[in-house]
Amino acid sequence: MTKRLYIETVGCQMNVLDSEMVVASLRRDGYELTSDIELADTILFNTCSVREQSENKTYSALGRLKDAKTKNPHKIIGVLGCMAQKDQRLIFERAPFVDLVVGPGQLKQVPELIAQSQAGAGQQLAVSLQRTGGSSDVVKRSHETFDPLRDPTMRPTPFQAFLRIQIGCDKFCTYCVVPMTRGPEQGREPAQLIEEAKILADQGCLEITLLGQTVNSYRYRHGDGRSTNLAELLHQLHEIEGIRRLKFVTNYPKDMTAELLTAVRDLPKVSPYLHVPAQSGSNEVLKRMKRGYTVEDYREMMDRIREHLPHPSLASDFIVGFSGETEEDFQKTIELVEECRFKNSFIFKYSERTGTKAANLLPDDVPYPVKQRRNNELLEVQNRISEEENHRFLGATVEVLVEGPSKAAVKREESGETTVTGDSPLQLTGRTPCDRIVVFEGNLRQVGQIMPVAIYDVSAFTLHGAVVTEHVGPHSLALLT
Ligand code: SAH
Ligand code: SF4
Ligand code: F3S
Repeated sequence: MTKRLYIETVGCQMNVLDSEMVVASLRRDGYELTSDIELADTILFNTCSVREQSENKTYSALGRLKDAKTKNPHKIIGVLGCMAQKDQRLIFERAPFVDLVVGPGQLKQVPELIAQSQAGAGQQLAVSLQRTGGSSDVVKRSHETFDPLRDPTMRPTPFQAFLRIQIGCDKFCTYCVVPMTRGPEQGREPAQLIEEAKILADQGCLEITLLGQTVNSYRYRHGDGRSTNLAELLHQLHEIEGIRRLKFVTNYPKDMTAELLTAVRDLPKVSPYLHVPAQSGSNEVLKRMKRGYTVEDYREMMDRIREHLPHPSLASDFIVGFSGETEEDFQKTIELVEECRFKNSFIFKYSERTGTKAANLLPDDVPYPVKQRRNNELLEVQNRISEEENHRFLGATVEVLVEGPSKAAVKREESGETTVTGDSPLQLTGRTPCDRIVVFEGNLRQVGQIMPVAIYDVSAFTLHGAVVTEHVGPHSLALLT
C-alpha cells in the first residue's frame, strides 16, 4: 500500500533543500506526497529557530495535531530541522505525541527512524526509545549530508534548484542560533558539487543557487594542501552545459574579495545579485553583535562591488532593536540604507534566542513597540528606494527566466474564473538575473524559457512588461539585468 507523506517547511532555503532530500529518500521507501494533512500516514515539520516567531508557528501547528494522533496512534509525527536540534526534549515535553525529533545533520536517518517508530507503534518500545533517547538519538555535530538525493517535484520550479556548497557556520554572531543548529562550517568537495550540478543540469535545471550561511567564505581544502574558493568553484560550474544562471547566497561582508567580484563580472552566467547582510549601520551595535566588521568596512566593500560591477543588484538584512540600540544607532542604519540603495532588505525585530551569547550577556532592552516602529520606519525607507531603483528599468529590455503563472493568475484559475491551456493568454511571472520579479502576459508554453521582456511599469517589488517578439541580441540583453 502506498504510504502518504505530508511535509511542511519553514525557514530558509537550506530547509527547502533539506525537505527536497527527505522527500527523495522517502519516495524510495514507497511514499507519495499529499497536500492533505488528514490523509497523511506520516506528518513532518521541517523547522526553523532563527526567531521566536518561527518556533511559535511550529508549536501551534503541532498543537493542532494532538487530536489526530489520539484518533489514529499509527500516524507518525516528526519534527525535523533547526528547532529539532535546538529544542530536542522540549519538543517532546510540549508535544508528547511527537514520535521523531531529527536535527538537520541527521536527516539521512529519517526513513529508518520512521520505520522504527512504525514498528514500535503498538508496542511503545521503539517509540519510547525515540522519546527517551535524547541526545544519543538526536546526535549532535555529525553533520553529514545527503545532497545528491534529489526530488525535482520539491524544487521552487523544475528548472531552478538549490545546491548546498557549505554546511554550518563558524561566525557566531551573538544573536544567532545557526552555528548551534547547523554545526561548524564545512565546505563541500568541488568534485562532488560539479557532479551534483551536472545531475541537476541533466534534470533540466537552468538556474542553480549555491547555498551557504556565509557562502563567499566557501573554501575546500584538498588532501594535497591546495584549496578551492568560491571564485574558482564558480569558474568550474560555469563550464557545465545546460546551466544558464548561477546565483549564490548569503554573503558575509568581510569575504567579498576582488577575486570573487572579478569572477561575477567575467562569468556571464553568474548573476550580479549580491545579498550581503549588514545587520546594522552602527559600529557600537555591530560590535555587540560580534559581526567582525565596522560600517566603514561595509562601505569599503560597497565601493569594491561598484568598482567591479557596472549594475550590481544589492540586498541586505537588518536587525532592529538589538540589545542597547539607541535612536542614534538606528538613525545610522537608516543612513546606511539610504546610501547603499539596496534592491531590497529583509528587516527583522531582534528576537532573543536562548543559548546565544547575546541571550546570556546582553539584555533584550528595546521595548517591543520601539522595535516595531523602527521596523516600519526602515521598511518604508527601503521600499521607497526599491521603487526608485526599479525606475531605471522603465523602457529597458530584461532577460526573464519564466517561472510560471503569477499568483493572481493561479487564484483566478483555482476559483474557476479561467481555464488555462497551453496557448491561452495568461499572466506569468519570472525573474531577471538580478533577482527582480517580472510580471507579463504570456502563455504556459513559455514557462521554463528565458525570454526578453520590455518593461513599461514598475513598483517597489515588481517590474511589469511585455515579451519582445523581434530578435534582441544577447549583448543588449546583458546590458540591463
Ligand atoms: N547566514 C546568513 C543569515 C542567516 S539568518 C547571514 O549571516 O547572512 C537570516 C537573518 O535572520 C540574518 O541575516 C539576521 O538578519 C536575522 N536574524 C538572525 N538571528 C536573529 C535574531 N535572533 N533575531 C532577529 N533576527 C535574526
Ligand atoms: Fe548567524 Fe552570523 Fe552565521 Fe549568519 S554569519 S548564520 S547571522 S552566526
Ligand atoms: Fe532557520 Fe535553520 Fe535556516 S534556524 S533560517 S532554518 S539555518
